[in-house]
Amino acid sequence: MAKNIGYGEHVDKLLKIGTALSAERNLDKLLEMILDLAREFTRADAGTLYLVVEETQELKFEIAHNDTLGSRLGGTSGNVVNIPPVPLKVDGKENVANVSAYVGNTGKLVNIPDVYEADGFDFTGPRKYDEMTGYRTRSMMCVPMRNHEDEIIGVLQLMNARDEETSEVIPFPEEFMALTESLASQAAVALNNAQLINNLKELFEAFIRSIATAIERKSPYTGGHIHRVADLTMRIARRVNDLDEGPYANIKFSEDEMEELRIAAWMHDIGKITTPEHVVDKATKLETIFDRIDLIETRFESIRREIENQALRLKVKILSNGSVSEVKIKKVDAEMEKKIEQLEDDLDFIVATNMGGEFMADEKIERLEKIARQSYKVNGEERPFLSENEVYNLSIKKGTLNKEDRLKIEDHALVSIEMLRELPFPKKLAHVPEYAGGHHEKLNGKGYPFGLTAEQLSLQARIMAVADIFEALTAHDRPYKRPMPLSKAVQIMGFFVKDEELDPDVVDVFLKGGIFMEYAQEEMDPTQLDEVNV
Ligand SMILES: [Fe+2]
Ligand SMILES: [Fe+2]
Repeated sequence: MAKNIGYGEHVDKLLKIGTALSAERNLDKLLEMILDLAREFTRADAGTLYLVVEETQELKFEIAHNDTLGSRLGGTSGNVVNIPPVPLKVDGKENVANVSAYVGNTGKLVNIPDVYEADGFDFTGPRKYDEMTGYRTRSMMCVPMRNHEDEIIGVLQLMNARDEETSEVIPFPEEFMALTESLASQAAVALNNAQLINNLKELFEAFIRSIATAIERKSPYTGGHIHRVADLTMRIARRVNDLDEGPYANIKFSEDEMEELRIAAWMHDIGKITTPEHVVDKATKLETIFDRIDLIETRFESIRREIENQALRLKVKILSNGSVSEVKIKKVDAEMEKKIEQLEDDLDFIVATNMGGEFMADEKIERLEKIARQSYKVNGEERPFLSENEVYNLSIKKGTLNKEDRLKIEDHALVSIEMLRELPFPKKLAHVPEYAGGHHEKLNGKGYPFGLTAEQLSLQARIMAVADIFEALTAHDRPYKRPMPLSKAVQIMGFFVKDEELDPDVVDVFLKGGIFMEYAQEEMDPTQLDEVNV
């Protein structure tokens, strides 16, 4: 009867162990927990957990504990297990001499009262260990760890069971055998699950990075953007977590929330996959899949030839009339030169305008239109110096993007949201689409894609907006933009706060907390680092 109650207690313990094991996702912690719980359950003074390495057909030491010697190796202990692995095969045959390898190969539990008196196995390993440490290995139970597919994925080796009352080393009681085997299998299943979850996580992580790489490849100039925004976002979030005063003193992002934000940051520009390359990196106003300034230059070259030809034809006419009038010829030459000079001047003006570096005042647009109104002849057909579309693009007042380009670019935020909403994120990552898709929203409601207002914007989205803008301002790898000095970027961040675009408290954390400086020193070009007052 007493034994039955004891058995019931053991089963109860086993159930609790099973629950505890299945809740642990961290592999190192889990392995350690398995050995701890198995030792506790069997009252073993020492123990080792081996995992099967399929590729090399070995048992790898993962964790080794010995209470008497006060040693804990592997797992989260920080102490590396420096013991060579045990081969499962020797000369192509199953290794049955080593007790752990025997269990790993046969799946049979081995229970030995005293290893110094046992036959059938080679115990030079434990004896050597004893010599070195002064320990005395006596009883030993080796248990296979079988997963749900009945594969042996590891071996638990437990040493020196202790009597519950006297603490003396005793053989492992027989009634423990089946229960320990069951514990080892629960452990194997938990381990398998944790490995599967880890593999899935790794796969997902790799997937996110490969998408980021795809976007990077598409645009070498904004490529590092995703990495840097993710980095900045997490720096700000960690700082918010550390704050004990101010508006965010009570905000503590949990590990899951940090993970959710990190993934959102990595995926925030995923929609750029659909943005045409020439728009993402539109370096000049006339750029499409190539810079159409080349067409204009070629065109102006033929206009110039036409002017020269006209002059020649006039001169031939003058000469063929029989009157050799130097005055007339000089006049023709002078007019031709004047026209060519004007043409060259106009072309220089167009080339400069195309760069998009300076603001297009109304006079400049008028001059463009005046140039465009002129025409030249190709195969007898009149054509304007500049097409309507060329004038439209060259008239862009600031930067290189026209309204349509801008809409195409802005569309990436909506596409990001649509793409992310397609993914069945688990509950703890449910906000990824919202955080990622909100990085171009503004507190004043003038952002895109939805024009959300301050009340609708989460702290995470606000953090991402700050990271995104600061990175874009300070990026130094764009060929068409001079890298911005740090002081100017900081000043502009201030303007965004004044205009109620960015969250003032987040910007405060970012600037006053010194994150921007850490980031600047690590990521920005040394020439950008000037004196800054915040
Ligand atoms: Fe974006
Ligand atoms: Fe971005």
